[in-house]
Amino acid sequence: MQSSALPRVPTTTVFNLLTLTLSLLLPLPSLPLSLCRTSCGAVTVSYPFAVDDGCGSPSFRRMLSCNDSDLFFATPSGAYKVQSIDYAKRKVVVFDPAMSTCSILQPHHDFALTDVQAALIPPSDDTIFAVLNCSVDSPVANHFKYLCSHDVGGHTCDEMYGTCASFRIFRPAAPQLANQSLPSPSLSPPTSTSTSPPCCFTRYATVKFMTMNMLDCTHYTTVIDAGGLEKSGPLDWTYGIELTYAVPESTACDRCKRSGGACGFDAESEAMLCLCSPTLNATLQALGLATEKSLLRGYHSTQPYLSF
Ligand SMILES: *[C@@H]1O[C@H](CO)[C@@H](O)[C@H](O)[C@H]1NC(C)=O
Ligand SMILES: *[C@@H]1O[C@H](CO)[C@@H](O)[C@H](O)[C@H]1NC(C)=O
Ligand SMILES: *[C@@H]1O[C@H](CO)[C@@H](O)[C@H](O)[C@H]1NC(C)=O
Ligand SMILES: *[C@@H]1O[C@H](CO)[C@@H](O)[C@H](O)[C@H]1NC(C)=O
Repeated sequence: MQSSALPRVPTTTVFNLLTLTLSLLLPLPSLPLSLCRTSCGAVTVSYPFAVDDGCGSPSFRRMLSCNDSDLFFATPSGAYKVQSIDYAKRKVVVFDPAMSTCSILQPHHDFALTDVQAALIPPSDDTIFAVLNCSVDSPVANHFKYLCSHDVGGHTCDEMYGTCASFRIFRPAAPQLANQSLPSPSLSPPTSTSTSPPCCFTRYATVKFMTMNMLDCTHYTTVIDAGGLEKSGPLDWTYGIELTYAVPESTACDRCKRSGGACGFDAESEAMLCLCSPTLNATLQALGLATEKSLLRGYHSTQPYLSF
């Protein structure tokens, strides 16, 4: 009879058996196993971002990738290296290695985001797009001139054309004789009779709706205006793109974090999950307890995350 057999088994034996079972199931404690990587290179990766599928917010799914040393933000126009993420200010600074800067001229290409990215994580208003070498018929020199600033912090396009080694090529052609190997008086700056090709300092909203071809400009560069552009020149500016993002409010996620978990989601349904360490998940399974998934199911939201 079961009722009489049970008392014969000492409680400590049950406990030891359970401990043994658990220790067989659990990975070695020294292994730094983690479901969701929390950093990539020097950049901390946490909610709403992630580099492992099922981690972070599903809204930002597959936007970031990590190649072990560098974190990348993938868009239709390329993979942009993530330089920093400021979780308090909700800003991400990315750099496009294929972009022209004051020191390097690169083949022209567009900056493009998916519709989801443009809605969730667009360039901030501190990101200034300088579109350069536009044709005289360019919209930014004509109908859409009002979208352009003549200068940033007192620095004009002409200054960029003149100061940046990369953009000097856009200046009006100096007399063909001009050649650095032949010291000649004609090396002096071009005369005022020739004008530089139009250029435009503008914001993301402009390049969002007009490709470089539509703008009829061959190159662009982006500068982050952290509030000191007037004090320095194009040579010293910070080139890159500052993105700004909104984090979905989620009491379920807040509670998950307070409990020591990481917010994630089910790869198929994208329902929110509270991810515990693999150790804890295994423990819960071994004890036959419900995983957080069922506990949190009531909070599963199908709403798009962009709700201000
Ligand atoms: C990651 O990508 C960067 C840039 O493409 C490259 O320089 C680096 O070597 C890559 N690292 C690894 C571990 O592949
Ligand atoms: C500047 O733009 C003109 C067309 O407006 C183009 O022919 C020229 O190649 C561009 N310069 C460079 C260096 O790309
Ligand atoms: C300028 O000098 C370089 C190097 O000496 C030469 O190859 C090139 O043909 C010269 N260009 C002109 C326009 O004279
Ligand atoms: C935790 O265990 C459950 C039950 O086996 C499994 O379905 C789930 O994928 C596990 N969670 C993670 C994040 O590995």
